[in-house]
Amino acid sequence: ASGGALAGLHVVVTSGPTHEAIDPVRYIANRSSGKQGHAIAAAAASAGARVTLIAGPVALADPPGCEVIHVENARDMLAAVEAAPPADIFIGAAAVADWRVEAASDKMKKENGGAPSLALVENPDILARVAQGKNRPRLVVGFAAETRDVLRHAQEKLARKGCDLIVANDVGAGSGVFGGDSNEAHLVSRTGVESWPRLSKKEVAARLVARLAQIFHGEAVS
Ligand code: PMT
Repeated sequence: ASGGALAGLHVVVTSGPTHEAIDPVRYIANRSSGKQGHAIAAAAASAGARVTLIAGPVALADPPGCEVIHVENARDMLAAVEAAPPADIFIGAAAVADWRVEAASDKMKKENGGAPSLALVENPDILARVAQGKNRPRLVVGFAAETRDVLRHAQEKLARKGCDLIVANDVGAGSGVFGGDSNEAHLVSRTGVESWPRLSKKEVAARLVARLAQIFHGEAVS
């Protein structure tokens, strides 16, 4: 796909949930299916980019034209992001677990009596590391999954993590965004908000890729 809007660029996308082990047989996770992130990776590849997709555990096929690295947990996802060749654009669509469990190396046994309590430790913030690290991609795009005050939280996240754009989506009860086939997204930049109607995740991906190409090539952000 040479000559597309992202031709010559390397795009790194994270997608899906992470699984954080409780013990060798149990884990904590979230409801991300990877549909949105995988659609973005596919759209970027169709636009001519070289794409590295770093995917948590999902039930989806690898999108065509992408190099796909499969990971299990947040720390592995960070390591894969850091091991990837330098990116021009980073898009963090994964729902990375904020906390992991101080995992037991042996299966926890009911016979040991009493309910165990799980000690949680904070995971590294992959998006913030990318946005604030050396070899910063020229465009760093995060997502914000919120259940209320979507735009305010997105603007706070943009500033706190140091990214250029946040795609904010409302994942409140009844929205059907986690796991569903459509999404209602707002593209939040330092200077404004562009709200899109409810679209299929593929259409959201195509719009996002088109906007990123414009922005990367010097047109104004919203
Ligand atoms: O996978 P689907 O079923 O298609 O659903 C899509 C989606 C709702 C998961 C997706 O559109 C989305 O919103 N992804 C981000 C979900 C999320 O974890 O948001 P957050 O507000 O917790 O995190 C904000 C940003 O920081 C995200 O870009 C996230 O990738 C990143 N992050 C968060 C925590 C962490 N430890 N490291 C990170 O990089």
